[in-house]
Amino acid sequence: MAREALRGRRIVVAVTGGIAAYKACDLVSALARAGAEVRVVMTRNAQRFVGPLSFATLSGSEVSCDMWAERDDIGHISLADFAQAVIIAPATANIIGKYASGIADDLLSTALLTFDCPVIVAPAMNTRMLDSDAVQGNLRTLRERGVRVVEPEEGRLACGHVGPGRLPPTEVLLDALEESLGVGGPLSGVRVLVTAGPTREPLDPVRFISNPSSGKMGYALAEEAVRRGASAVLISGPVALPEPAGVAVTRVSTAAQMHDAVEAHAGEVDLFIGAAAVADWRPAQPSDEKLKKSGREEMTLHLTRTPDIIAGVAGWNPRPVVVGFAAETGDLLANAAQKLQEKGLDLIVANDVGRADIGFGADANEVALIDASGHQQRLPRMTKAEVARAVLDAAQVLLPRDVG
Ligand code: PMT
Repeated sequence: MAREALRGRRIVVAVTGGIAAYKACDLVSALARAGAEVRVVMTRNAQRFVGPLSFATLSGSEVSCDMWAERDDIGHISLADFAQAVIIAPATANIIGKYASGIADDLLSTALLTFDCPVIVAPAMNTRMLDSDAVQGNLRTLRERGVRVVEPEEGRLACGHVGPGRLPPTEVLLDALEESLGVGGPLSGVRVLVTAGPTREPLDPVRFISNPSSGKMGYALAEEAVRRGASAVLISGPVALPEPAGVAVTRVSTAAQMHDAVEAHAGEVDLFIGAAAVADWRPAQPSDEKLKKSGREEMTLHLTRTPDIIAGVAGWNPRPVVVGFAAETGDLLANAAQKLQEKGLDLIVANDVGRADIGFGADANEVALIDASGHQQRLPRMTKAEVARAVLDAAQVLLPRDVG
């Protein structure tokens, strides 16, 4: 297979200490033949199985083995700057455990903490080790963080046992790399900006006005955009979610900060999706000191409007395709349609935030999509990942033909 789509892609291949390390030579060779730029990182134990010279020759590039090697750049950081995707093949139980726990005691484990691109783990080990609660638990942790795990194949292992634990063939690893890079996806080359989470509007240094948005909806949208091949920027309010792999995340707190961050990026994107629950009001004069309650039975707050971020971008010319959300507690479709019109949006996603099982904080949502022509599509209750797919299906047909 020609693998044209890998041409020019910057891939880090991490090789750890298992007998399948020799198969990584074929992976590196295939990537180099496809025209990818490859950098290989080896752990100390990997070098017991294959010498760095083999990988240096196959990749045409120096192999990184040592955290303390003298060089002009900082090794683990420069790998993160370089990588568009990382694959650990073979991944031993040791590196899987270190990655899941955040242990950074050599070049690879330290570099793994710095990557913000898709990371693929291809475990290869004895079946009993693979099946152990510890390894399965660590793999689960990695999956939850958005790391892609390529299932090992069944067969005869180097130790003589027969069962799952073999490193899959190079073609399967290349497929995983292509999918992680969103190669050939419907949003290849499209730049997407998403807002997520709540904003916090301070009253004083320890109190603020906010809402229960968890960020789950917006994060799911950014993840799905990347899965479809887009490059995604996520402007996130304060949430407790891990950063999605391959997404550039900017963290903000107030509506004003979210406004500034969106304005800094919106001119460079093709699609803007406002899933954040932006506070509409903020205390007009937040106190620099903690407000005293002594002697006060009541307090009147003077609130002032925050900037309407999404309406601002929708008013630009030229502007990206703009998709908003409507958080409603009654008259869902009518109120959402009115918001779409007033804010000048291309598409609005109406959700009922009065229900506890959907909307704020929940893993599920039940939405209706309304476009600028008034066409409405009611969707059943589904996970937020599924809603994200439906929203991007509807948004991508609104993109101009020459985008992507
Ligand atoms: O984060 P989760 O827990 O997963 O919950 C998801 C969600 C309920 C927050 C999400 O599905 C949602 O409905 N987001 C929009 C919440 C909201 O602020 O709705 P709104 O109807 O008040 O605002 C309409 C649109 O204007 C939204 O796209 C909003 O981002 C935008 N807006 C609002 C106010 C403001 N000052 N600037 C804005 O850009």
